[in-house]
Amino acid sequence: MNLHQAQLHLETSILMGVDFLPVAEKLETTPETDPSTRLEQLSTIHDDTCEHCLQATGYTQTVFGIGNPNAQLMFIGEAPGAEEDLQGIPFVGEAGKKLNEIITAMGMQREDVYIANILKSRPQNNRTPTAEEIAKCAPFLAKQIAIVEPEVIVALGAPASQFLLSTTAGITQLRGKWCSYEGICVMPTFHPAYLLRNYTNETRTQMWSDMQQVMAKLDKNRKT
Ligand code: URA
Repeated sequence: MNLHQAQLHLETSILMGVDFLPVAEKLETTPETDPSTRLEQLSTIHDDTCEHCLQATGYTQTVFGIGNPNAQLMFIGEAPGAEEDLQGIPFVGEAGKKLNEIITAMGMQREDVYIANILKSRPQNNRTPTAEEIAKCAPFLAKQIAIVEPEVIVALGAPASQFLLSTTAGITQLRGKWCSYEGICVMPTFHPAYLLRNYTNETRTQMWSDMQQVMAKLDKNRKT
């Protein structure tokens, strides 16, 4: 589901009594400042105004994003898990360790890339984010992407892929094929948690093949 679809869903909710719709001016940062400062500003604006995170309960802290604000490569996951909720940093649990291995295998370090999630607060019991939650929180992700301006986004798992690509197709169908979000190349692939749960030669080969495509794209862009 993309932002537009999520907003339509939310408009229906409004008709049924919910009185919030995200407004763009809430998300404005100071355009002349550097990306790092703008991300910090956005993080503060998020914490002060995100109707999803302000209303949600059962989480410890918001988890905004981490990494190089000028990164060529951005990874986008679903929402913080238990360990991320405790540390305030995305992808630091078991899935995060697998993601770190993948980044290292790609010849990079975690500090080289930027990592964020669709939702900035942990859903209770790690359930999948609802359309309404995405409609409220994802405008901040959209703004994060606009500030970092990566060349390539790796969408980790179905919710991130479906949000960025405005589709309801499943990850098995989407993965491994280049798509586009706001003119940025997007590679949908398995979520590292899915990979850990289904750790077969087939899934590992598929994910590595997706990452090789990403490396080739970044390499090509460097030479041109
Ligand atoms: N899974 C996600 O999608 N994001 C995290 O930050 C951790 C686990």
